[in-house]
Amino acid sequence: MGEAGRGVRGANPFMGALMLLCHSLFTAVLLIAVTASASVNTLPGCPATCGNVTIPYPFGIGPDCSFPAPGFALSCNDTGNRVHKPFLVNVEFINISLLQAQARIYNQISWQCYNATYAKVSSSTWRLQFIGKPYRFSDTDNKFTVVGCDTLAYIRGQNQNESSYTSGCVSICNSSDSLTNGPCSGIGCCQTSIPKGINYYDVGFDDEFNNSWVWEFNPCSYAVLADADWFKFSTAYITTRELNETNGGRAPMVLDWAIGDETCEVAQRNTTSYACLSKHSDCFNSSNGSGYLCNCSRGYEGNPYLADGCQDIDECTLKDDRYPCNGICTNVPGDYLCTCPTGTKGDPKNGTCNPVLSNLSTSVKLVIGIVTSTSFALLLLLCIVVSMARERRKLIRIKEEYFRRHGGRLLLEEIKSKQGLAFKVFTKEELEQATNNFDKNRILGGGGHGTVYKGILNDNHAVAIKKSKLIDDHQKKEFGKEMVILSQINHRNVVKLLGCCLEVEVPMLVYEFVSNGTLFQLIHDRKRTSHISLDTHLEIALQSAEALAYLHSSASPPILHGDVKSSNILLDDNYHAKVSDFGASMFVPKDETQFATLVQGTCGYLDPEYLQTCQLTDKSDVYSFGVVLLELLTGRKAIYFEGSDEQKSLSSSFLSAMKEDRLLQLLDSHIKNEEDMEVIGEIAELARQCLNVRGEDRPSMKEVADDLDRLRKFKRHPFLQHNSEEIENLLGQPSSYTENEISGYYSIETKAALDIECGR
Ligand SMILES: *[C@@H]1O[C@H](CO)[C@@H](O)[C@H](O)[C@H]1NC(C)=O
Ligand SMILES: *[C@@H]1O[C@H](CO)[C@@H](O)[C@H](O)[C@H]1NC(C)=O
Ligand SMILES: *[C@@H]1O[C@H](CO)[C@@H](O)[C@H](O)[C@H]1NC(C)=O
Ligand SMILES: *[C@@H]1O[C@H](CO)[C@@H](O)[C@H](O)[C@H]1NC(C)=O
Ligand SMILES: *[C@@H]1O[C@H](CO)[C@@H](O)[C@H](O)[C@H]1NC(C)=O
Ligand SMILES: *[C@@H]1O[C@H](CO)[C@@H](O)[C@H](O)[C@H]1NC(C)=O
Ligand SMILES: *[C@@H]1O[C@H](CO)[C@@H](O)[C@H](O)[C@H]1NC(C)=O
Ligand SMILES: *[C@@H]1O[C@H](CO)[C@@H](O)[C@H](O)[C@H]1NC(C)=O
Ligand SMILES: *[C@@H]1O[C@H](CO)[C@@H](O)[C@H](O)[C@H]1NC(C)=O
Ligand SMILES: *[C@@H]1O[C@H](CO)[C@@H](O)[C@H](O)[C@H]1NC(C)=O
Ligand SMILES: *[C@@H]1O[C@H](CO)[C@@H](O)[C@H](O)[C@H]1NC(C)=O
Ligand SMILES: *[C@@H]1O[C@H](CO)[C@@H](O)[C@H](O)[C@H]1NC(C)=O
Repeated sequence: MGEAGRGVRGANPFMGALMLLCHSLFTAVLLIAVTASASVNTLPGCPATCGNVTIPYPFGIGPDCSFPAPGFALSCNDTGNRVHKPFLVNVEFINISLLQAQARIYNQISWQCYNATYAKVSSSTWRLQFIGKPYRFSDTDNKFTVVGCDTLAYIRGQNQNESSYTSGCVSICNSSDSLTNGPCSGIGCCQTSIPKGINYYDVGFDDEFNNSWVWEFNPCSYAVLADADWFKFSTAYITTRELNETNGGRAPMVLDWAIGDETCEVAQRNTTSYACLSKHSDCFNSSNGSGYLCNCSRGYEGNPYLADGCQDIDECTLKDDRYPCNGICTNVPGDYLCTCPTGTKGDPKNGTCNPVLSNLSTSVKLVIGIVTSTSFALLLLLCIVVSMARERRKLIRIKEEYFRRHGGRLLLEEIKSKQGLAFKVFTKEELEQATNNFDKNRILGGGGHGTVYKGILNDNHAVAIKKSKLIDDHQKKEFGKEMVILSQINHRNVVKLLGCCLEVEVPMLVYEFVSNGTLFQLIHDRKRTSHISLDTHLEIALQSAEALAYLHSSASPPILHGDVKSSNILLDDNYHAKVSDFGASMFVPKDETQFATLVQGTCGYLDPEYLQTCQLTDKSDVYSFGVVLLELLTGRKAIYFEGSDEQKSLSSSFLSAMKEDRLLQLLDSHIKNEEDMEVIGEIAELARQCLNVRGEDRPSMKEVADDLDRLRKFKRHPFLQHNSEEIENLLGQPSSYTENEISGYYSIETKAALDIECGR
């Protein structure tokens, strides 16, 4: 590279340094302007606080606002003078922490007083219990604390298993002179630890220790399980009744809480009662007893117990030591990217980006000289311009990052290498424009997997744009590769994949737009059924079968549809079938260990063998197609209602009807017709074969297609019943996939029919 090249590169370190400077200037301004945004912490419509105490979910005021398990529903009681405080029955809560899984409450102090002849004149001993509730007394934060100068008090505790323990603490002092204020030193008070997991305790005083030596200055003794940090000894506790008078004779105490009494793994099995609702949350076992707790995943913060509780942390604006970045920081969901500005080098997360100044040419040094000598205002102006450009580049970088993660490079290379491939990589803006920013009115359909929008491209072409919900990481990496394969599918009865958009978090797919609804609507929409003949039904079935056979046999590696159903068969204006949604299908495992782990498909269409082996095969599609055939024959849905509420599976109703020879009852009245009975019987028999429990016993998709083709010809020309082979010979290649000759297909058929008419 010559001098000129070095000169151009030399300018970059300067720009890099400038951008770093601008970056810090702006974040400083931003930090002042930005106020923390309030995140959700309760169910919708529920109070966030009671008095001064914030009540985060799973806690709540009343059963409708709290997690449905005992102990989380608090009440907000008026304690007089319109002061509200949260209570669980009669236990007042001081505050609740989600992160530490702790709550502070007030615990009653037990006491006992004597008169001059050492007789017990008044006493009050308390117990506290959370049996059947998710609480236990924190063993690390609490201590059993006894106050007095001639006192022995006992603590008796129980854990969840009701196994109990007893301990005690004695305090003896001969005069009030030796007492000192401050932490409990052992004179005038004593403290003892408690074991883990206790959720019941009570207190007793020993009558032998009746203040007989010390009554003059210490008439009363006290004992309580309390927060060790709270307790500060005061001589007034011995000589006066101060301890009984502050906080209504109560001391703060720390509780540990957890959800339920199961481990994470057990709790996750029951999805209706599992508490970690947020998408970006993790579960962990409580280390202080049974039960589990939830946490936001790395890179997220908020309330993990609420559906949208965990929000992405904007590491870049936080300026927190945990998220170091000495370069250009870009926030992405769950993480942040830290890169060096162009022209500098280094590890910006641990260290700095160093401009390579030694390479600077004299002209650049001159520019630096001019810039540094201009005023601060000029610099600020420059910064605004630079930062606007930087914001734009930041967006571009995020897009590039997604594009890279989704295997976009590989896809582009493939497209380049296969010239003439009609496949386009769309930009996010193009698709936003095409769908009017994903306008609700443009929604064509949707379901568990995602939403399909109608889009109008710049050239006035209508397309269908599929915006999926989240996909897993493995799929993301494979995405580009899968696109390469899917883009090469070209069959008149398969919806054409026109392109995709990779520069968004979840890639979007762009399909050909098919105008006339789905087969499901055709069969089940009552308004439309009347004029659809058996011929049309047969034609649609044949075309769908051919499309599936093509996917199974002609593509490499073979493509399994995985979700064959009437609502995935689209129809154009001439009732020609187009199989859709094959983009969601999985490819046949390349080796035996690579089994599908995720059940996909739709109830009523699912291959029973797939459910057992978890392995999707081409015969799974054959099974589902069998159910589609049944829908065509019977006009009923795959899962239908009979009578009032009884849900029935079409395939099992059909199989038992076939066995008991009462198929007629099940048939759609529109197609029941004496002269067609033979064809209908054969279709029913074909469907029965497709629904065989053992996949091996089912015909292949190709055989199904051939069979339907034969039936269709027979329906048109019953006299040819026994001569179908002859026709095939006549046509040369009976069912080969001449997909690139879309126009040729129907004319060949017409020609065949004509030939036969003539031969008659
Ligand atoms: C709430 O806090 C304020 C200020 O700390 C205090 O004045 C007020 O008494 C508190 N209210 C209650 C109900 O605790
Ligand atoms: C608070 O109110 C609830 C329900 O009204 C009641 O069960 C509970 O005993 C009350 N607690 C106190 C300390 O008043
Ligand atoms: C709860 O109260 C204690 C003492 O008042 C305080 O130290 C602690 O920070 C509080 N915790 C929360 C989560 O507010
Ligand atoms: C102390 O209390 C006992 C029992 O109540 C009583 O018999 C006795 O007279 C009292 N002694 C004094 C000095 O008050
Ligand atoms: C008080 O304790 C002493 C021993 O410490 C005992 O002799 C005396 O009987 C006790 N008095 C009463 C009233 O129990
Ligand atoms: C309670 O008993 C069960 C079974 O006997 C035991 O596994 C568990 O560790 C016990 N829990 C405590 C807190 O002791
Ligand atoms: C307290 O004083 C009494 C007598 O005045 C004595 O018998 C006892 O040993 C002393 N106890 C302590 C703990 O100093
Ligand atoms: C403690 O306070 C309660 C009421 O607040 C009172 O009934 C009791 O006599 C007091 N006890 C002592 C030892 O002062
Ligand atoms: C799942 O939890 C719900 C709500 O707690 C409960 O009604 C249901 O019986 C549980 N199901 C199982 C299988 O444990
Ligand atoms: C929870 O505890 C169970 C049983 O002790 C253990 O098998 C499991 O790995 C633990 N789960 C987590 C998330 O720590
Ligand atoms: C359990 O106890 C440990 C100390 O023993 C404490 O650090 C931890 O925060 C407690 N809470 C949970 C949920 O594990
Ligand atoms: C940061 O850099 C130092 C040396 O430059 C190295 O010892 C350390 O492991 C690095 N830390 C990380 C998190 O990369």
